[in-house]
Amino acid sequence: MPLNELQNEQYKNPELHKEHKVERKIRTDTAPSLQREDEEIEIKLRPARFEQYIGQNKVKENMQIFIEAAKRRKEPLDHVLLYGQPGLGKTTLSQIIAAEMDGNLRITAGPTIERAGDMAAILNDLNEGDFLFIDEIHRLNRTIEEILYPAMEDFSLDIIIGKGPTAKSIRLELPRFTLIGATTRVGLLTAPLRDRFGVIHHLEPYSIEELQTIVIRSASVMQVEITIRGAEEIARRARGTPRIANRLLKRVRDFAQVQFDGTITEEVAQSALDRMEIDKVGLDTVDKKILEAIIFKFDGGPVGLDTLASSIDEESGTLEDMSEPYLLQLGFIQRTPRGRIVTRHGYEHLGLDIPNDGQMGQIGLKG
Ligand SMILES: Nc1ncnc2c1ncn2[C@@H]1O[C@H](COP(=O)(O)OP(=O)(O)OP(=O)(O)O)[C@@H](O)[C@H]1O
Ligand SMILES: [Mg+2]
Repeated sequence: MPLNELQNEQYKNPELHKEHKVERKIRTDTAPSLQREDEEIEIKLRPARFEQYIGQNKVKENMQIFIEAAKRRKEPLDHVLLYGQPGLGKTTLSQIIAAEMDGNLRITAGPTIERAGDMAAILNDLNEGDFLFIDEIHRLNRTIEEILYPAMEDFSLDIIIGKGPTAKSIRLELPRFTLIGATTRVGLLTAPLRDRFGVIHHLEPYSIEELQTIVIRSASVMQVEITIRGAEEIARRARGTPRIANRLLKRVRDFAQVQFDGTITEEVAQSALDRMEIDKVGLDTVDKKILEAIIFKFDGGPVGLDTLASSIDEESGTLEDMSEPYLLQLGFIQRTPRGRIVTRHGYEHLGLDIPNDGQMGQIGLKG
């Protein structure tokens, strides 16, 4: 394919990168004006520099050193892979990295790159020092991924022009760029791709104190009054995730303004979050359904993910991405080779009697 045609194919859908499933659900549930307002706030809430990026201290410190070193050498930063659960700040961190390096950031996502030509065109259009952000990089297909190998390693692009016996392969030099890949499923990345990243960082769930700081900062951006205890209450129920903390803050603010005097105190936060059916540790109705299904329909487990999902009419992918990580983190369920079981803590949280040992965690004993 001639180059100018390649160029025309670029950036089919660069804006189409993934939004959080829960976020999307919430958005379709809300009125259009509320949606727009939320989106505007969203942009303001996103930290633009390292100083505003709270927590993830190890990742931050290391990144700052790599950036400083690359700057001194006047070289582009090595390729960076960020992985971790949804909403922990992968996209945000990528934007900060590009900003701190004074580089342009091109944003795309694995599922939107459908053909090898799309990938080639995106790469060919980069300039020296640019950052290419590929969200959900685990969803790139193999042939597209293979174009990335020489691009990442040697900054070159092999393209085939023509078909059949007259086809010719030519190698194009690419400007030196930095690829930032983000994924919630690092296990699905192929080894050759993973190995080509010079920097790999895992983002961990945030502590309650860190989330509290994020909530206080977000409230000040939104010009909402909040007490320290009010912020703590939201942080406790935010499942270790800044995106959830910000979402809860926005909805608690609505309650505070309509039903109270506008200030988010501990009492206001508790009352609002209870009404939203988000419990003391952040479990929502789906999480509770999961625990109850394992306990009551499957005798505490073990039960396979697909069976469990269909028993509560949810998609197994949603359970695996949205509910399970937090239930595991709390230690309310355990993953075993034969399926999921509810732990002692899980029973206790629901206020249920713990069955005698023979029953509970069968797998833990036998498997
Ligand atoms: N360290 C942080 N400090 C303050 N706010 C943060 C931080 N990390 C994330 N946020 C907030 O949380 C929101 C979600 O973060 P972000 O979009 O970067 O998550 P993500 O890891 O890319 O999620 P996904 O996997 O769904 O793409 C951001 O808009 C930002 O407001
Ligand atoms: Mg993201």
